[in-house]
Amino acid sequence: MSKEYSMKRVVESILNCTKCQLCKYRRKPVPGEGPLDTEIMLIGEAPGASEDEEGRPFVGAAGKLLTELLEKNNISRSSVYITNIVKCRPPGNRDPEESEINACLPYLIEQISIIKPKIIVTLGRHAGRVIYKLMGKSFQSMSREHGRVVKGVIRQLGLDVTVIPTYHPAAALYKPDVRRILEEDFKKIRSLITSSKTISKSGSITLDVFLKKG
Ligand code: URA
Ligand code: SF4
Repeated sequence: MSKEYSMKRVVESILNCTKCQLCKYRRKPVPGEGPLDTEIMLIGEAPGASEDEEGRPFVGAAGKLLTELLEKNNISRSSVYITNIVKCRPPGNRDPEESEINACLPYLIEQISIIKPKIIVTLGRHAGRVIYKLMGKSFQSMSREHGRVVKGVIRQLGLDVTVIPTYHPAAALYKPDVRRILEEDFKKIRSLITSSKTISKSGSITLDVFLKKG
């Protein structure tokens, strides 16, 4: 089965999903977007109001900052796959509940198994915690984990990944100190991409395509 076909099936399931109560409040589910042959996945928490309206991830204020952080580091937004832990907006942007996260998690695992990313960037505490758990690791706190380069295995898939947790861009919107940390972490992400490009030189896919020229 092709990646495109597999992803299409996942997306269709998400668009029709009623597995948790968030289906009652959402306007549009937000499956995620990006090329399926990318080596980099960015995982946020849950759609907000703008995402719920458009059905696309990170298109509101936090998304604008995320796009800026990527592009500033010569990583084009359209070269990475962007999704969230839960695919439907929690009412009033509350945190997703554990039961909602668990109901939605099979979709994310399926997306990871299709894309098979080498690098996963988690945005915020929830995304960090959930991805660490999939690797059998425990997430201490955002302040402690952010910017770390963590090698692990997504156990259910036997997939080796390098995870970099960072803060959620929404947290940086009104907090200059968080913003500075995010800027630093994205520089690390950029250099990790550059170094894995060297490492994967012998592989068929290099990371060249993710880096804009110049
Ligand atoms: N915040 C998220 O975590 N995800 C989005 O898609 C938008 C805002
Ligand atoms: Fe289904 Fe996930 Fe939406 Fe809940 S959040 S209804 S599990 S797609």
